[in-house]
Amino acid sequence: MISARNISKTFVLHHQDSAELNVFNGLNFDAYAGSCLILSGQSGSGKSTLLRMMYGNYLSNSGALKVRKGDTWVDMVNAAPREVVALRKNNIGYVSQFLKTIPRVTTLNVVLQPALERGIDREKALMRAKDLLTRLNIPERLWNLAPSTFSGGEQQRVNIARGFMVDWPILLLDEPTASLDEKNRDVVLQLIEEAKKQGSAIIGIFHDAYVREKVGDRQFSVLNNEVTNHVC
Ligand SMILES: Nc1ncnc2c1ncn2[C@@H]1O[C@H](COP(=O)(O)OP(=O)(O)O)[C@@H](O)[C@H]1O
Ligand SMILES: [Mg+2]
Repeated sequence: MISARNISKTFVLHHQDSAELNVFNGLNFDAYAGSCLILSGQSGSGKSTLLRMMYGNYLSNSGALKVRKGDTWVDMVNAAPREVVALRKNNIGYVSQFLKTIPRVTTLNVVLQPALERGIDREKALMRAKDLLTRLNIPERLWNLAPSTFSGGEQQRVNIARGFMVDWPILLLDEPTASLDEKNRDVVLQLIEEAKKQGSAIIGIFHDAYVREKVGDRQFSVLNNEVTNHVC
């Protein structure tokens, strides 16, 4: 579902005398349907940067980063903005480390959004949203409030519910379990397994070794530029 060849990133810091920060060079990996690829590497090695590239937020300075769109491939290195928008609606889901809250938009509407964008029937979507919020232990009294005042863990669970609202051919997860207790972490593990079963290619960053070993099928080390079948 993803084919990355010779991917590199150097940030140019325009407000700091155009200083250049090289993060990684020449990365190569593939990701497959129904399988979870773990991105590993110490803090600052560029895992989140790589995930953002797959979502089209950052551009690689070299190579090709191809994502599958039905029977064709789109190269994120030179995709037109409208192509990226279309991919984000139908092909690539992304659960960021932190929820971006919008004032006055209720929790239910935040979670519903990916389904409504795809034109899924509202009643059907509402059932899925309520089911996810219940499974993720968000109390019903919070559903009609905006999540901007929620605790970090609650916001993250709303973010996760939103991310798993629809089936994604490709799903990118940036430390979704970071501030969750064991009970909620296990719900996320189940959601990941369910997504894999329906065919999602999952690319995930998890700092918890237990989670990596549970859901990971293969591991890509950003530091060694190497894929292994052993997840640790
Ligand atoms: N938008 C940005 N501008 C400048 N530097 C950035 C930007 N995003 C990330 N970086 C830098 O790139 C490096 C890798 O960051 P990141 O991808 O967040 O690492 P990881 O997720 O592995 O901890 C860090 O040194 C970080 O400061
Ligand atoms: Mg990160």
